[in-house]
Amino acid sequence: MFVTRNVNSLFRCLSTSAFRAATQTHEGVKHSASEAVFSREDKYGAHNYHPIPVAIERAKGIYMYDVEGRKYYDFLSAYSAVNQGHCHPKIIDALKKQSEKLTLTSRAFYSDVLGEYEEFITKLFGYDKVLPMNTGVEGGETACKLARKWAYNVKKIPNNQAKIIFAEGNFWGRTLAAISSSTDPSSYEGFGPFLPGYEIVPYNDLAALEASFRDSNVCAFMVEPIQGEAGVVVPDEGYLKGIRDLCTKYNVLWIADEVQTGLCRTGKWLAVDYENVRPDIVVLGKALSGGVLPVSAVLADDPIMLTIKPGEHGSTYGGNPLASRVAIAALEVLRDEKLAENSSKMGDILRGELSELPKDIVKLVRGKGLLNAIVIAPQYDAWEVCLRLRDNGLLAKPTHGDIIRFAPPLCINEAEMRDCIKIIRNTIMSFVK
Ligand SMILES: Cc1ncc(COP(=O)(O)O)c(C=O)c1O
Repeated sequence: MFVTRNVNSLFRCLSTSAFRAATQTHEGVKHSASEAVFSREDKYGAHNYHPIPVAIERAKGIYMYDVEGRKYYDFLSAYSAVNQGHCHPKIIDALKKQSEKLTLTSRAFYSDVLGEYEEFITKLFGYDKVLPMNTGVEGGETACKLARKWAYNVKKIPNNQAKIIFAEGNFWGRTLAAISSSTDPSSYEGFGPFLPGYEIVPYNDLAALEASFRDSNVCAFMVEPIQGEAGVVVPDEGYLKGIRDLCTKYNVLWIADEVQTGLCRTGKWLAVDYENVRPDIVVLGKALSGGVLPVSAVLADDPIMLTIKPGEHGSTYGGNPLASRVAIAALEVLRDEKLAENSSKMGDILRGELSELPKDIVKLVRGKGLLNAIVIAPQYDAWEVCLRLRDNGLLAKPTHGDIIRFAPPLCINEAEMRDCIKIIRNTIMSFVK
């Protein structure tokens, strides 16, 4: 079923100029290369994803190339993991050099790299300490565990009574802990029973947040400064500052999940920087390795971080020398190439142009920096829009049926951005009846 649908979609696009050009010269063979990739994944892999039918073979900077040699602008950046651009030479060089020297010690022993990375990242973001993990969801889990330890050891909440508040529409991964806070049935349905001690408030609602904080067993509020997977939902100005004030007033820890919004994606190092506020715990991931390997990090000050003692939390690969070396390089690239500034500038251009598109097709444009989304009117199919974008040389993916995220690598320049805007405009205009 799955393959049939993908292959059909591929053939449906034969009429477009990009695809025709590619197939005219390599009749037959061209189709089967992509098809072979789709059908093998379908046959041997679990069906837990529904990819856009395009088979990528290599990528460099802002471009991806499929197995048939077609070139595309990447407008997803692996869900914001490739902020620095694909295969950034400095990051790859760090990976290569370290991989020939020392890749893993486990935390049973010290390595000569971990401390250097820890000093670098904590000084960069202004926190006392970092706890290194691998995936984003492990970072979120670590933050929740820290909050609970702090609840019992510092805030003196009665044992096993601590509550963590989450916002409606949150997304922080796929583990049981993460889906226990989810309000999206496609995330949680059929996976119960769920973790207790979680409560949900509406996003962007300070009054509801304050009401939840009146319960003295609340130890933390975990929230994305812009909700990524929910469809790039940007809260009102003042929301982040309001969270800070309420958390301080009620002695509740603020956990900012910056796994998607952080590391220059929204035009600042962290999205919370827009309101000059400092969360108690920051979770980073994705672009912390520039798309090279899973690296996540939790930042906090000593009174929180030191509540976890040796043996109480960890990960075999967390803080490994390879990841540490790669993360230093990934952060240096963001800093040296001024990618926050570029993200901010390019984002302004993108949103400015997107907002000129016909409103009966593109209902809404929203975002910050290069984390953006458009909402497609219900009479049009966002999946079909993405297929036509692909045919025209730009890769994006719909979410929640009607939303398309536009999040290219942050190294995109103005000429390239204007070319992408042309592709998007032509694609959208092709739907005008
Ligand atoms: C805000 C946020 N937090 C956490 C995660 C989980 O990251 P990972 O997929 O690396 O576990 C994601 C993934 O999309 C995310 O967007």
